[in-house]
Amino acid sequence: MPLRVLILGGTTEASALAERIAGDPRLAPILSLAGRTANPRPQPIATRTGGFGGVDGLVDFLRREAIDSTVDATHPYADQMSAHAVAACGKTGVPLASLVRPEWQAHDGDRWQRVPSPEAAAEALGAAPQRVFLTLGRQDLHVFAAAPQHHYIARLIERPEQTSLPPDLRLIQARGPFDVAAERRLLIDERIDVLVSKNSGGTATYAKIAAARALALPVIMIARPHKPARQTMTEVDEVVRWLHDLAPRGV
Ligand SMILES: NC(=O)c1ccc[n+]([C@@H]2O[C@H](COP(=O)([O-])OP(=O)(O)OC[C@H]3O[C@@H](n4cnc5c(N)ncnc54)[C@H](OP(=O)(O)O)[C@@H]3O)[C@@H](O)[C@H]2O)c1
Repeated sequence: MPLRVLILGGTTEASALAERIAGDPRLAPILSLAGRTANPRPQPIATRTGGFGGVDGLVDFLRREAIDSTVDATHPYADQMSAHAVAACGKTGVPLASLVRPEWQAHDGDRWQRVPSPEAAAEALGAAPQRVFLTLGRQDLHVFAAAPQHHYIARLIERPEQTSLPPDLRLIQARGPFDVAAERRLLIDERIDVLVSKNSGGTATYAKIAAARALALPVIMIARPHKPARQTMTEVDEVVRWLHDLAPRGV
């Protein structure tokens, strides 16, 4: 029997892993998505969508589906799902690896102000009105209603559901990857004074950081939360080797 693998996904890395192991006779993977976007990218392996129902729900899922190993490839800011994965895999004895993309590092010319939370980012914008480019996902947009003096441009994959949004907000619907020239153009055309970003890491959304550096614009960088993990890996190949080591021989 092939190794039954649960991949907790929703990221470029999870999709890359799915791509890499699709059709591998030693592995039987299922990719789990939170369901945050209505039109997720098509995947080459089986998928399921929606929360499990906390730690107990995930424990039930692991047992019901006879999962042999789990890969947590969720977003660096999805700390709750990771905590549940550590707890549920601990209870069931299912091996767990976490695929985490490294953080972006500040380079010469970057003007980053690091803050611990979206709330702190809203405060760090200050009292004077600014033109702000928000690229932090729709779940945290409402936080900026507390700083209504600013003009916000928020780029999102989908429209937000929250009702309490900042009053002066324009939405741009787009999905990465983005390139530096287009990001530079956007920052100039929209007369942006400051960016607010998560430290997502990876290449798909890095262009805005490079463009801000080129234009000497400040970036308010929201720090990553503590993301619980058993063993952390940064490369898809490393995860594949780990899965192959766990998989039965001769399948
Ligand atoms: N999730 C994504 O695909 C994604 C993608 C890009 C960015 N982010 C960023 O990450 C931050 C937190 O996002 P979040 O609310 O999704 O994470 P979270 O706070 O860690 O998770 C909240 C709940 O969502 C469900 N969930 C999360 N990921 C799941 C998955 N892969 N499969 C099944 N259920 C999943 C779980 O529900 P149950 O407790 O019911 O199991 C989990 O407890 C946000 O700032 C967001 O912008 C998330």
